[in-house]
Amino acid sequence: MLRKYAFGIITLLLVLAAVLLIWMEQRQTVTQPPNKPQSLVTTFKGDPKTSRAFTWHTKSTEGEAVLQVLKGSSAAAFESGDVLEFRGATTAIENDKGVFQGVRKAEASGLAPGTGYMYRVGDGSSGGWSEPAAFETEAEESGPFTFLNVTDSQGITEQDFELWGKTLEKAFEQFPEAEFIVHNGDLTEYPEDEEAWKSLFGKASSWIRSYPLMPVTGNHEEVDKDAERFVSHFLLPDNGSDSSIAGTTYSFDYGPVHFVVLNTESKAKDQAQWLRSDLEATDKEWIIAAIHRPAYGGSSDKSVLKQWVPVFDEFGVDLVLQGHNHEYSRSYPLKDGKVVESGGAVYATVNSSGPKFNEKKEDQFYHKVHFQNYRQMFAGIRVDDNTLTYKAYDVDGRLMDEFILKHDPNN
Ligand SMILES: [Fe+2]
Repeated sequence: MLRKYAFGIITLLLVLAAVLLIWMEQRQTVTQPPNKPQSLVTTFKGDPKTSRAFTWHTKSTEGEAVLQVLKGSSAAAFESGDVLEFRGATTAIENDKGVFQGVRKAEASGLAPGTGYMYRVGDGSSGGWSEPAAFETEAEESGPFTFLNVTDSQGITEQDFELWGKTLEKAFEQFPEAEFIVHNGDLTEYPEDEEAWKSLFGKASSWIRSYPLMPVTGNHEEVDKDAERFVSHFLLPDNGSDSSIAGTTYSFDYGPVHFVVLNTESKAKDQAQWLRSDLEATDKEWIIAAIHRPAYGGSSDKSVLKQWVPVFDEFGVDLVLQGHNHEYSRSYPLKDGKVVESGGAVYATVNSSGPKFNEKKEDQFYHKVHFQNYRQMFAGIRVDDNTLTYKAYDVDGRLMDEFILKHDPNN
């Protein structure tokens, strides 16, 4: 008897379970506010001492981009405290399913140097806010500081980006004093894959909501002169080369360092002109350039070598951070294509922070250190007025390379 009805009962139970699942899913879609911030990331745009920029995406393209900031560390004060409110800009980007989503960018300005703040972003209505997070402005006196360098997170799946999340976790464990991150490009494998961007930001959210992530444009960001989705995710200084896509070249100052970020994917010659005028204008003690494809090296784009390296040499660029090779290398100081005792630039390429590693390339005359350890890596770079200390670790916390650059305090 029981056996006779067993098939019918099981089928009925399965149908009920399916209906329940669909109902729960729909309910979740309904309860998730369409302006709930996703892929939230902080960057520098204006002066790091007095301002801070934020970018997030939303399912909806409607409503406003609102940023609330308050001094101190109490999130409860958003309901009662002295809140600074900034209105940002909303644009839309078509995602790969043929529907548009909101791109929100806002910047807080007029902040006090060396001060801790809490912030949240949203559309200004209840339910539309991000979880409050903290950040700190740069100290008034340009003292020593530490930043992190990573590259080529270049993932597709959530699991891929877990590797990048673990790399950042170890990096901040090793350098808890780090104040921001420079990422040397190839953040995701397919620039149009919004799900991958979501995973990239999601797996790093503990850090990149508070510590600026300053990105470099790689060959997986700008493809066929299009970098729309990449630049939709970052609010960056708008002082770059006129002929490059806005947001793919820029410079900023932090402590005693001038950082200049170039785009190896197009318009190298125009950028050389911009680079020259940018470096002419700085009086900072140190210059660090960040590029994706290495200037010297097996996969180098010769126009980069021809156009930018003479400018690096002329203006005494100290360190060039690179990516793309998915192996570790560090050059001797180089000037005019030759190894020099001092006065040249050191070119450092840290290993991938994601799943992909290349076979080790051939050793070259300029390689001081060159290896493939098939482990995600990061570098922590500490700079004061006279000394730059670079340390590269693998994701297990093993120190893999270190060097020191010195500037004569009497010069
Ligand atoms: Fe690349």
